[in-house]
Amino acid sequence: MAARIRKAVFPVAGLGTRFLPATKTVPKEMLPIIDRPLIQYAVDEAIEAGCDTLVFVTNRYKHAVADYFDKAYELEQKLERAGKTEQLELIRNVLPRGVRAVFVTQTEALGLGHAVLCAKPVVGDEPFAVILPDDLIWNRGAGALKQMADAAEESGASMIAVQDVPRDKTGSYGIVATEDFAERQGRITAMVEKPQPADAPSTLAVVGRYVLNPRIFQLLESTRPGAGGEIQLTDAIAALLAEETVNAYRFRGTRFDCGTHIGLIEATIRYALDHEKLSDAASGLMQDALREMGVTELQ
Ligand code: G1P
Repeated sequence: MAARIRKAVFPVAGLGTRFLPATKTVPKEMLPIIDRPLIQYAVDEAIEAGCDTLVFVTNRYKHAVADYFDKAYELEQKLERAGKTEQLELIRNVLPRGVRAVFVTQTEALGLGHAVLCAKPVVGDEPFAVILPDDLIWNRGAGALKQMADAAEESGASMIAVQDVPRDKTGSYGIVATEDFAERQGRITAMVEKPQPADAPSTLAVVGRYVLNPRIFQLLESTRPGAGGEIQLTDAIAALLAEETVNAYRFRGTRFDCGTHIGLIEATIRYALDHEKLSDAASGLMQDALREMGVTELQ
């Protein structure tokens, strides 16, 4: 048995240029699926996995993220006076009691690996999680990070979430080679960031959930810029493989790439169809829209 993760790192300093002009003022992590921003889904997943310290790696354009997790005294008072207890609970539970948020600044956009390294002073010498809020994972059972944290606690190995992707998409992901895959886990033997399809060692792609041993920080300190001229987390993990076991973990759940327009749309549709109050209306509207736009003939 290894130590249970208690800290989760959220790299949220990206520019989000794909969603301009919205992201001119709204950080992409604040884009909502129905009524909750992407960052809330990520935070809830970390808390469910057992984390009580949330480390946001941010920059000066992302005040909205810090404001969101701050206490909204005036709003709370107003809701309290108006007897709106349901809404009051909603805003209070953005950050449940006993969970703390820590904000760390990444002054230069030097890459995901560099963002994770910025969290070192807060994480210290214990295993921790990294969650990329763009990767939203929908689940009916335990969340993806909880599944991985349980497995990591059992074995002591670092865990990287993976899923199969079409070969022509390998250039968008970290890709792993594995051996001894049993049930959901396999030992990673190689890891490469955004390889061309012809050079990819497999079609098993890294999804934005990691459980890492703190040794990664030292390796990140000596990681040179890699793919795209950025300091890549993938390259530091590739170095970690030489020293200890790192497992790929095929999580249960459906992942939506909310860093793209179509992924955000897909996630919105899924959450609407799964929503206890909106499901019927949403499904009716979707069918009407398809019919009216002549997109397809529904049976
Ligand atoms: C990052 C990682 C990549 C991973 C991906 C998952 O890339 O560098 O290894 O596969 O997230 O979403 P990004 O999408 O930030 O370019």
